[in-house]
Amino acid sequence: MANLIQPVRGMNDILPDAERAWDAVESAAAELFGAYGYRRIRIPILEKTELFSRAIGELTDIVEKEMYTFADRNGDSLTMRPEATASVVRACLSHGLLHNRQQKLWCSGPMFRHEKPQKGRYRQFHQINIEALGHAEPEVDAELIVISARLWEELGVDMALEINSLGTPESRTGYKQALVDYFEKRRGDLDGDSLRRLQRNPLRILDSKNPAMQELIAGAPVLEDYLDLPSRDHFERVRTLLTDVGVDFTVNPRLVRGLDYYTRTVFEWVTDRLGAQSAVCSGGRYDGLVSQIGGRATPGVGWALGIERVVELMRDAGFDDAGHDPDIYVVGVGDQPQRECFAAAERLRAAVPGVRLVMGPPGGFRAQLRRADKSGARYALIVGDDELAAGKFSVKPLREDRAQELVPRDEIAGWLERELGRKQ
Ligand code: HAM
Repeated sequence: MANLIQPVRGMNDILPDAERAWDAVESAAAELFGAYGYRRIRIPILEKTELFSRAIGELTDIVEKEMYTFADRNGDSLTMRPEATASVVRACLSHGLLHNRQQKLWCSGPMFRHEKPQKGRYRQFHQINIEALGHAEPEVDAELIVISARLWEELGVDMALEINSLGTPESRTGYKQALVDYFEKRRGDLDGDSLRRLQRNPLRILDSKNPAMQELIAGAPVLEDYLDLPSRDHFERVRTLLTDVGVDFTVNPRLVRGLDYYTRTVFEWVTDRLGAQSAVCSGGRYDGLVSQIGGRATPGVGWALGIERVVELMRDAGFDDAGHDPDIYVVGVGDQPQRECFAAAERLRAAVPGVRLVMGPPGGFRAQLRRADKSGARYALIVGDDELAAGKFSVKPLREDRAQELVPRDEIAGWLERELGRKQ
């Protein structure tokens, strides 16, 4: 046998058994977003590389070492989206959606980052994003956080919320200088990554995951002391609003996020149940991003959750992953009965919308009944020569201790509807 072709490392098949959990996340999010007036947008997987390097920042891990970038046949440098915010903003600008208008949008789909794969961290992963553009007021930061809190409630998962404010780029200038001064004095203790970032992007040193750096980072100046007054007020208001509606949070002054476009509010929903990957949903305000990628200055705020991580938490919380079993498994024994079954199955599908009906492959009665049982179906609908001659179907309950019944062919749809109704 030829060698099996292996999947690409870090890119997972999401198998049917996972569908219930994935669907639960996607449907709950879609419904919630709709209820809050957010509309869906679908954006391409490929964008010009420059979009991401400009939006996310040249000195971020994502742009420096994680993007899937390649030359298109005509020589353009293209990148498979590592995140969606830049693309959503680009799409709004491409279509003039921000001309004197605000937008509340959401989208979902695969993202690509060349990270080292481990539990909860993949090279193709799936995000659900929500973004509000044109809204400067802290109420929208709070609204977005509340939406995420509601989503966890609906999905039965539990996480802790950490928030911080990064202020404006101007207020960060003073802070950056303070950081440079602090780390310069301790240059000898910095690792290679941090040394590189010291001059160009000192804030990112705070994001270092290197355990040897943590003590040094803990002693660094905190951004809060450098925040401008309007940013302070904004942050205060977000906290008040969250408190008013009972969403608990802690302020984490070291939370800086891994993308450079953030201003003011940033937040992460974190858990200690996913090993090294603690962030399940993260986001914040990005008031400079629209102008950074060529539009008129427009505030923005949003978040993204990683579906894989949410699903993992749901399983951890006891979510039952079992797939939807069929209602009925059709067993036709012999050529003529099998033909009758095929037509009967179509009649039933038309008469009972939503019925989950499976037709197995032909075979002997016992083998088919075994398959019916294994399928998890509630009933086997059996047609053999006797049934055919009598114009009736045998229906055998597979999950309860009840006798098999003979149901006239014309009454089977009604019988099934009654039975399915009984189930609910
Ligand atoms: P991010 O923190 O890079 O933010 O990613 C958001 C979420 O995506 C994370 O909290 C995590 O759940 C998931 N995630 C990220 N990388 C991976 C990975 N390699 N494997 C599995 N899951 C992953 C953003 O992407 C921003 N665009 C969020 C945002 C939207 N900010 C404003 N609007």
